[in-house]
Amino acid sequence: MARLTINGKTQEVDVDPTTPLLWAIREQVGLTGTKYGCGIAQCGACTVHIDGAAVRSCVMPVSAAEGKKITTIEGLAVNGVLNKVQKAWLEHEVPQCGYCQTGMIMAATALLNSKPRPTDADIDATMTNICRCGTFQQVREAIHAAAKA
Ligand code: FES
Ligand code: FES
Repeated sequence: MARLTINGKTQEVDVDPTTPLLWAIREQVGLTGTKYGCGIAQCGACTVHIDGAAVRSCVMPVSAAEGKKITTIEGLAVNGVLNKVQKAWLEHEVPQCGYCQTGMIMAATALLNSKPRPTDADIDATMTNICRCGTFQQVREAIHAAAKA
């Protein structure tokens, strides 16, 4: 049993402490916005925030997330108002199939929180998420738009 704080709510999850956080989020808590892609920290589909930093939840054990503030894509909007990254994503029509986009939005939000006016080089260095649909140029444009919002 572990106690996790996800999107401001305390959740008891009945899993082995070594279970990847991704599976506790999806299967125990039922927040399925966070996606599984590779399971080996390569694709970024599973990105969540731990104390505000982007983390690949497929390789983080539940035990390492206890006592920390976990935010998933479901927790980004406040009172139904999308954050500036989510708004820019819609305005720039970034999502194609959409599968990678949770991770992209979580990574971009963390980037802007730590670096409010990122350069293209900052974006390329940070946004290492993989998109099979090739939305990388739209991702970059939307991040710049969100930075100006
Ligand atoms: S599923 Fe976690 S990085 Fe790919
Ligand atoms: S939008 Fe399809 S994988 Fe990225």
